[in-house]
Parts: sequence; C-alpha cells; structure tokens
Amino acid sequence: MKIIRFNKINSTNDYAKKLATKGFNEGTIVIANEQTAGKGRLGRTFVSKRGGLYFSIVLRPKQKDFLFITVAAAVAVAHAIESVTNKKCDIKWVNDIYINNKKVSGILTEGGFTSTGNIDYIILGVGINIFEPKEKFPKELPLADSVFHNGDIKIFKNAVKRKIFKCFLNEFFKFYGNLEKKEYIKEYQNRSFLKGKKIKYIKDDKIFVASVLEIDDDAKLVVEVDGNKNVLSHGEIQIIGMEQLPV
Ligand code: BTN
Repeated sequence: MKIIRFNKINSTNDYAKKLATKGFNEGTIVIANEQTAGKGRLGRTFVSKRGGLYFSIVLRPKQKDFLFITVAAAVAVAHAIESVTNKKCDIKWVNDIYINNKKVSGILTEGGFTSTGNIDYIILGVGINIFEPKEKFPKELPLADSVFHNGDIKIFKNAVKRKIFKCFLNEFFKFYGNLEKKEYIKEYQNRSFLKGKKIKYIKDDKIFVASVLEIDDDAKLVVEVDGNKNVLSHGEIQIIGMEQLPV
C-alpha cells in the first residue's frame, strides 16, 4: 500500500482520482488532516476541518463488485470508530454513519470508466469527524457531529486517529478480498438507522411517504407505501421528524 499524506488539500478524492488516471495501483491512499473543498454526495460540500480523518483509496474492482464497496466500507467505518469508543454506530442508508442520531462520517465513491464502459478505477473516499473542530460545525448542518467532544480526549489524539485508520483498512480489505461473499451484509442490515422509521422520498417527480421495513441482501431499502412494498436502490431519503436535509 502506498500512502500519500497531506496536511491540507482541497479534496483527497480529487487527488486520488488524478493518481488513478495516471495509472497508480489499487491500494494507493491519499490522506489529509484537513480539506479545503471536501466533497460529499450529490454535489454537496463535506466540512473537513482539522480534527477529522479524511482519506481516499484507489481501487480497481471487478465490474460486478463495485456496488458493494460502499456497503462494506460503511461497516468497516462503524468497526473502526467502535475500536476507540463504546458509542454505537448506526448506518443510515446508504452510507452515512450516525452516533446518537447525529452524523459523524460520510462516504463518497466515485468511478472512472474505460472507453469501452468498463470500470477503470473506483475512488473510495471516507471522512470521519473524530474530534470536535475548533470552529464548530456550521449551523446549517444541525445533524453534523464528531465522535469525541472537547474534553473527552485531550492527549493521544494522533494515536486515536491512527487506530481508527488502521482498523478501517484491516476491516475493509478483509471484506474487499471477497465482496461477493457479502460477509458484511448482515451487519449492515442490523446497524440500520432507518429500520422502522417513517421517511419521505421523491420518485418520478412525486413525493412518497413510506415506512422502512428492512434492508435486503442487495443492500436495497425495502419500504411500505400505502400498503404496498417498494424497493429503493439509490436516492435521497428524508426522515420524517428529523430536521434535515442530510449533512
Ligand atoms: C457524504 O457525506 O455525502 C460523503 C462525504 C465523503 C467525504 C470524504 S472525505 C475524504 C474524501 N474526499 C472528499 O472530498 N470527500 C471524501
């Protein structure tokens, strides 16, 4: 594994993408203490102040495997955080990590394709808010939080970060070696933050209100709408009763 470290960078995903297009191998990792233009899903910004852990991994998966990379990564992030704290991590479908109803981590996977439409690379980007940033999270992000709060941990901060990073890599690459086996799926289902909650989502320009039944073995969200079952494979959902939209 080749690890390239930055104190500050615009986005580790963007840098890793450049490396991937230059032919860098699977397992190349770009890691930073701070990002000035951290990217979230759906074109959002991911606030990436000092105190967090931000990294991106170049992967070159087999075509059919790539859908489960984020699912496996979410479980690995949950394990990594729980290796340093006894706070329980939930996974909000698709891939946000929550502690006590607040988001502490997000995952952004981006892909590059060959001219024949095959996957050339996937960049797996992970951001974990470990320590409370000095500037606090902006108030437009009421659900953003950090794993630890000021006063929880005053020393050994770097050791805590290192442990989370190492644990993530161990867990993730164990799963990644055999994504098809889906060894992570039961845990992904059991950690579901959405199960039993009422949600809203938009499909074909219409707003639906649904109850979440479960996550199936393909990591899809099974919901009930007006007495009918519906299966969602992607998209943005809003939990009714929680002030959102997502962070
Ligand atoms: C989200 O919550 O919508 C996904 C956030 C992903 C953030 C990580 S931080 C490391 C990597 N570099 C980025 O610019 N984004 C990802």
